[in-house]
Amino acid sequence: MKKIVVLTGAGISAESGIKTFRGSDGLWENHKVTDVATPEAWQRDPELVLRFYNERRKQIRQAQPNKAHTALALLEKAFNVQIITQNIDDLHERGGSSQVMHLHGEINQSRSSIDENLVYNIVDIDMKMGELCELKTQLRPNIVWFGEEVPMIEQAIPLMCSADIVMVIGTSLQVYPAAGLLDFSPSHAQIYSIDPKSVINSYDNRFTVIKQNAGEAVPQLVKKLIEMNP
Ligand code: OAD
Repeated sequence: MKKIVVLTGAGISAESGIKTFRGSDGLWENHKVTDVATPEAWQRDPELVLRFYNERRKQIRQAQPNKAHTALALLEKAFNVQIITQNIDDLHERGGSSQVMHLHGEINQSRSSIDENLVYNIVDIDMKMGELCELKTQLRPNIVWFGEEVPMIEQAIPLMCSADIVMVIGTSLQVYPAAGLLDFSPSHAQIYSIDPKSVINSYDNRFTVIKQNAGEAVPQLVKKLIEMNP
């Protein structure tokens, strides 16, 4: 079976009602990223950080996967599909995709603030001050913040190296190391970019740039790929 690696960003969840990061006002849900998504913010005001991610969790749990998420799940009928997402939401999983790697963490998980390997599922909606890991330190969201390492990149690179087809959906490709993953795609791989503001130049015939919304373009591309590889 041919392997399709799909790199997704906030744009694929936009039509599910979840805001992208780089809106025109430079704020993320009315907060400066430095106030809520950095280790310094956690040191300064952990309650604010927990409150911010509690709101995101509530919003994400109310959101539903859209046509782009569900189309990617259909693709598994004909291909070995690996999703690598920068998103912290679980809309790929709820849309039916079975192989999803989260580069920047997951909103439904917490972790120890001193040992990143101690990860827990969040069953309730809210995380609270005073909830401790087994090492007796405060639990924090299992999210990769600005300025932190992205440990999953080590596993993402070999996946990208093994792709026959790559899809890049709804990402501004401004944040590294995720943005650098494309450089690891094999030279024989066909690459599709779906984003109304795609920054990928279609300078060679490996690249097909589709400047449309994901909810419209992904189902069409999935249908075409399945027809080409029944
Ligand atoms: P961005 O907000 O930077 O980019 C979102 C992209 O989605 C833009 O290129 C938009 O043009 C595109 N877009 C918007 N609506 C779309 C739609 N309906 N269909 C398809 N595309 C659409 O988000 P990311 O690239 O995901 O990191 O940001 C990368 C990382 O930066 C995030 O994971 C987050 C952030 O800081 C962390 O939290 C560590």
